Amino acid sequence: MSRESSNLSPAITTMIRLDHMHVLAAFHRYHRDSAWWRKRAIVNSVCAALEIHAQLEEEIFYPALAEVAATNQSLQASRPAHDAVRATIRELRATGPENAAYDALFMQLMRDTLHHVADEETVLLPMAERALKQQLRSLGADMTRRRIELLKERPTEVAVNTMRTFPLATLALATAFVVCLTCAVRGNARRRHG
Ligand SMILES: [Fe+2]
Ligand SMILES: [Fe+2]
Repeated sequence: MSRESSNLSPAITTMIRLDHMHVLAAFHRYHRDSAWWRKRAIVNSVCAALEIHAQLEEEIFYPALAEVAATNQSLQASRPAHDAVRATIRELRATGPENAAYDALFMQLMRDTLHHVADEETVLLPMAERALKQQLRSLGADMTRRRIELLKERPTEVAVNTMRTFPLATLALATAFVVCLTCAVRGNARRRHG
């Protein structure tokens, strides 16, 4: 990515906070008495988002932080925290939403994720903002480039689960798209006839 586009990129710490917000919002859409297909869609969406987020942090964010704070306890605890989350994701995928253990497993995933996110938001992100000032935007650009590669590997899974997890947001986006398309078609027609 060019130096210019790196300078325009949001800081990596901003992107990480946005990812956290997105996952926490999805967690809050899960209810014990929801239909099984809705529970599964939310779980699939959360798991895919967590897997991509963890991989991006491990490939880009943690190595940059290790350059300046290799012995930090929260940083050292981060990869094991991701591994614990991945283990629960594997268990969830092996357990159907009709199984009584499904709710408890999802609550465990939420608890472990919240604990780890709190560590990142109160220790690692502020530390990165102090120590990596000049690099935050170029790291953000690296993260976007890598995210696009990872999303390309599972486009249908991510799109379908986002649609089922956030139906109103998807509807709003689809409506905005149709409105834009209609305006563009009308504009073209007016230019042709005008
Ligand atoms: Fe993390
Ligand atoms: Fe994170």
